[in-house]
Amino acid sequence: MFNKRVKIKELLSWDAVNQEVIVMGWVRTFRNNQFVALNDGSTNTNLQVVIALDQYDDEFLKRITTSSSLKVQGVIIPSLGKGQKLELKANHIEILGDSDAEKYPLQPKKHSLEFLREKAHLRFRTNTFGSVFRVRHSLAYAVHKFFNDKGFVYMHTPIVTASDAEGAGEMFKVTTLPFENTPRNEDGSINFKEDFFGRATNLTVSGQLEGELGATAFGEIYTFGPTFRAENSNTARHLAEFWMIEPEMAFSDLEDNMNLAEEFIKYIIRHVIENNREDLEFLAQRLAEEEKQKPQQERSEMGLIEKLEFVLSNDFERLTYTEAIQILKDSSHNKKKKFQYLVEEWGVDLQSEHERYLVEKHFKKPVILTNYPKQIKAFYMRQNEDGKTVAAMDILAPGIGEIVGGSQREERLDKLEERMKEMNIPAEELWWYLDTRRFGTVPHAGFGLGFERMVQFVTGMTNIRDVIAFPRTPKNADF
Ligand code: 4AD
Ligand code: MG
Repeated sequence: MFNKRVKIKELLSWDAVNQEVIVMGWVRTFRNNQFVALNDGSTNTNLQVVIALDQYDDEFLKRITTSSSLKVQGVIIPSLGKGQKLELKANHIEILGDSDAEKYPLQPKKHSLEFLREKAHLRFRTNTFGSVFRVRHSLAYAVHKFFNDKGFVYMHTPIVTASDAEGAGEMFKVTTLPFENTPRNEDGSINFKEDFFGRATNLTVSGQLEGELGATAFGEIYTFGPTFRAENSNTARHLAEFWMIEPEMAFSDLEDNMNLAEEFIKYIIRHVIENNREDLEFLAQRLAEEEKQKPQQERSEMGLIEKLEFVLSNDFERLTYTEAIQILKDSSHNKKKKFQYLVEEWGVDLQSEHERYLVEKHFKKPVILTNYPKQIKAFYMRQNEDGKTVAAMDILAPGIGEIVGGSQREERLDKLEERMKEMNIPAEELWWYLDTRRFGTVPHAGFGLGFERMVQFVTGMTNIRDVIAFPRTPKNADF
């Protein structure tokens, strides 16, 4: 029976001296034919397994190599060596799986993150990725706990849809039609009636529209699932497949929305600070070393944990898009033409350099921008009295830029239909969405948090490809 094993993290948390235990894991290093550093993924702390001299013959000892897997039965004793308090005196070792040291791709030395991305199937076995993915798990758990405790209903919205929720046209098509002799209509266009679903379908870019259907029945819902964007952005913050959390609340306006988003972000950060201390300390150390490679003026003023604690203890700065544009226009950065895109007139979309200037240079804390021009936002956002802006909000985080996008929704049927017409969004395809406005419409609001960007923020990883197990980006879908 395998279940008798004790996890190393658990073992190190109790006073295990003199206890007989069984542990299982993968060898990180093996020194002097005597000391095995064993890791089982529960923590970055390896358990030192001590093999007595002459306990095993050379033939057996040779098989204990980096990444071979072992079952060890033994007794926990206080360690004499430095670096650990306890060690395991082995009584019996079983090699579960050999690992050819010559062929194993991750030699026990420091590897670059780029190299490890090519070995993504094995990178979980490194300390960095061990920590990143335990923190990712913890954040996901905290997401569910936060909403569950508030009485939100977790809704699973479809992955395959026929609508473009964001109206941005960045969708992956889903089809079973053949590439050759594709069925066509008389005018030459593809005949989707012959397709699997009898219509054109795509991978969802957001669960929001279906989420609104749930919110206008349950009151408050959230989604947490994969979303897909076929945007050709090869940056450190874009993925073609990413996970998004989208709460949607009936009887809610823009201010309620901002309050919830801020409380939510702080809650999940606090959860990690309280439950993943060891991993955070490791990641903070890693980041500090990475920062040392940078020129002085590019280094961040705070360490990772300090930054997270700072976010918890300060209110996010709230201002309107119009105020932000003024700040950017007046900035010395703009005047000295240090922005690649100079900020000249009201109405332009903010580039990530502008967002980062506001957050990192001007306010030095997370910022919530509200009331954007309607031209640069989606059709479903509630139109403000001024006729120019919508009740949108974006949350910008230091080092990341946009982490949340959301809005109060347009609950007035006539206004919504009018806006859809202006934006050429076919109302007949969204009849079901419009029905919520026909039958008992209510003021409501919601937002989307990009989960990987959040994991980046909390772990301090610079590239989004390093916080999702198997990243999908332009020209890359390995594993
Ligand atoms: O701002 P977005 O496009 O908003 C929506 O999809 C709304 N339907 C959300 C809502 O109101 N329910 O995306 C929301 C967030 C962004 O702020 C960003 O954090 C993340 O999703 N995001 C991405 N993350 C990684 N890779 C990409 N390509 C992303 N695109 C958006
Ligand atoms: Mg957005």
